[in-house]
Amino acid sequence: MSTTHTNKIDIIKAATSKINEVDFDNLSFGSVFTDHMLECDFKNGEWQKPVIKPYAPFLLDPSARVFHYGQAIFEGMKAYKDESDDVWLFRPDENYKRFNNSAVRMAMPEVPEDVFMNGLNELLKLDEAWIKKGKGNTLYIRPFMIATGEGVIANPSDDYKFMVILSPAKSYYSGEVKVLIAEHFSRAANGGIGAAKAAGNYAAQFYPTSLANAAGFQQVIWTDDATHTKLEEAGTMNVFFRINDTLFTAPTSERILDGITRKSLIDLAKKEGITVEVRPVLVSELVEASKNGTLKEIFGAGTAAVVNPIIGFSYQDVYYELPKTENSYATQLKDKLTNMQHKLTEDTFGWTVKV
Ligand SMILES: Cc1ncc(COP(=O)(O)O)c(C=O)c1O
Repeated sequence: MSTTHTNKIDIIKAATSKINEVDFDNLSFGSVFTDHMLECDFKNGEWQKPVIKPYAPFLLDPSARVFHYGQAIFEGMKAYKDESDDVWLFRPDENYKRFNNSAVRMAMPEVPEDVFMNGLNELLKLDEAWIKKGKGNTLYIRPFMIATGEGVIANPSDDYKFMVILSPAKSYYSGEVKVLIAEHFSRAANGGIGAAKAAGNYAAQFYPTSLANAAGFQQVIWTDDATHTKLEEAGTMNVFFRINDTLFTAPTSERILDGITRKSLIDLAKKEGITVEVRPVLVSELVEASKNGTLKEIFGAGTAAVVNPIIGFSYQDVYYELPKTENSYATQLKDKLTNMQHKLTEDTFGWTVKV
């Protein structure tokens, strides 16, 4: 192990790399991690010096607040390597802002920009060999923060740990996705934490999603908690609906995560001359459009899968199958976005940032 100290960050390098043990052609999403991780503690009311160190488990007191009261947030982003071996991030400022919005909502301290951005850049430089070239190869980045303060007292913690871990990923394909439209369970409510990337939001989805899985559906499309009449988002994706040639998606709200893929696709679609309507979309409209043949596509949008086409949905025990659409918006928009992320086309929006 070698150690480098700068006034901003300490770097402890792993003595050996695990990279040769990894089969990069058969990666299961989110299951392999690189050689290093970033760690920065919040103690005595301030952020300590960040450190990059070998990826390894760490100890926490059993009374740490994260275990009892769920003060935990995270982000999901990706790094890409272009043909000249340069490494790029996609709209990292948006992830940084969203992370701190989540922190505020969960009564956690905001992470300084320098710790998040400089720490991430240094970590990516160190584990750069784990980012493979070629479309479809990415490095998934998982920044997160947990409450480490001790005591089973239902108050916000005094101490926190911010970390970044990295996981090489192939393009994510979840097969043919059938969805169940939520009629009883809710993911989020007005005044709640739906717009935050808080760990508990995901835990709360597991049970209803497992019921949907048992019934033959891969995902649930959540509806508004008050009336269950408005289509909101899926597990880790925002959702788009194409009726005739117009693309619809719900406005973000206190209940919906402000997805970066979502907002990028809206801008890309508009640039392509596609009409996009951001407005509440009713379940009844979807059923009606399916019945009269105007519903052409449904797809999810999020960092992991980028764009995930949905082949059918169930509502009130009736299954509605989608037609096969040639030259779908899902495929067109996914291509445009991933080409830009991999620097295969010009980024006219200025969304890609070099590491
Ligand atoms: C609940 C939820 N909605 C939407 C998204 C998509 O957001 P993004 O495009 O920023 O990944 C995610 C994934 O981060 C999510 O967890």
